[in-house]
Amino acid sequence: MTATSFVTVDLPQQSYQVAIAPQGLDHLGPWLQDPEIVAKSPGKRILLVSNPAIFKHYGDRVVASLETAGFQVAVCLLPPGERYKTLNSIQKIYDAALAHHLERSSCIVALGGGVIGDMAGFAAATWLRGIAVVQVPTSLLAMVDASMGGKTGVNHPQGKNLIGAFHQPRLVLIDPQVLRTLPAREFRAGMAEVIKYGIIWDADLFEQLEAAKRLDQVRYLPEELLHTILTRSCQAKAHVVSKDEKEAGLRAILNYGHTIGHAVESLTGYKLVNHGEAVGIGMVAAGHIAVQLGMWTAAESDRQTALIQKTGLPTQLPAGMDLDAIVAALSHDKKVLDGQVRFILPQSIGTAIVTDQVPATVVQEALTAIACQ
Ligand code: GLY
Repeated sequence: MTATSFVTVDLPQQSYQVAIAPQGLDHLGPWLQDPEIVAKSPGKRILLVSNPAIFKHYGDRVVASLETAGFQVAVCLLPPGERYKTLNSIQKIYDAALAHHLERSSCIVALGGGVIGDMAGFAAATWLRGIAVVQVPTSLLAMVDASMGGKTGVNHPQGKNLIGAFHQPRLVLIDPQVLRTLPAREFRAGMAEVIKYGIIWDADLFEQLEAAKRLDQVRYLPEELLHTILTRSCQAKAHVVSKDEKEAGLRAILNYGHTIGHAVESLTGYKLVNHGEAVGIGMVAAGHIAVQLGMWTAAESDRQTALIQKTGLPTQLPAGMDLDAIVAALSHDKKVLDGQVRFILPQSIGTAIVTDQVPATVVQEALTAIACQ
């Protein structure tokens, strides 16, 4: 079995470890008491937040690991899906926190994908003005992106993630083996974020992905490659977050593919196209923009498109999408700065820049290039 890797997210207030650990679910209890792994051990009471399907697969193991280590665990299960990422669900976590007498020293453990992680993190950020949260992500997307970096929150009826707080976890525990039960479409969605790290940060990761035989389903990935993908992605994110925790500058590059991606995701009702698929389409569009602006070579942009295709993600807009509606949606994005749409554009495989100097005609041309033929 592959050995555990640790990646440090180095922050002025409190640094923390991301452990990529096969069978890691069984280590959670002891690791929460190990000063080499967590800066400060939580008190005895733990609230485990999850959803019924994930809890059915992994809940018993996590609870057993915590209880054997002497923790008193209560469980709060929330319905799955983005539409439940609301203040109403946060209220349910608060009710469970109250019933289980969570104290300032207590801890919330999030066992699930990005939705569970964001909500458990936000509840932890606000309960008693902030208690510890431990992230145990179970989707690839949550492992390589949402679980680390401290962005937590819920949706407002008018927009995704409009309510939230930065609240860094005390530990992120990634057990790659849980990906074996992840639906293929969700695995591919996570691969979009992995390719993103290859483009913006880690050319060697990109080349390793190019060299892989198949990337469309987790079962085709050798254990070592999966471990490398997780470790390198977490290293990229940890580095960026350590330099710019609150997204004052560098962290914006993590939004590569997300500018047009978010517009596509919201215009298709967050259903027809999921987040990772939208990011894949957005990266192809950003590639076209960078080539038109003379910043990137067509050959590298084609390599990016080929790699996205290899994972089975779409590289074109869904049929019938209104290109003008996409352009209009861009100006409503939360990342618009002083009315200028910000794009992250690659300069080579492994480096990207943030710019608000993209003429509307260039955006239109890129959208036409990726429109469904
Ligand atoms: N998902 C982008 C970030 O964490 O900044």
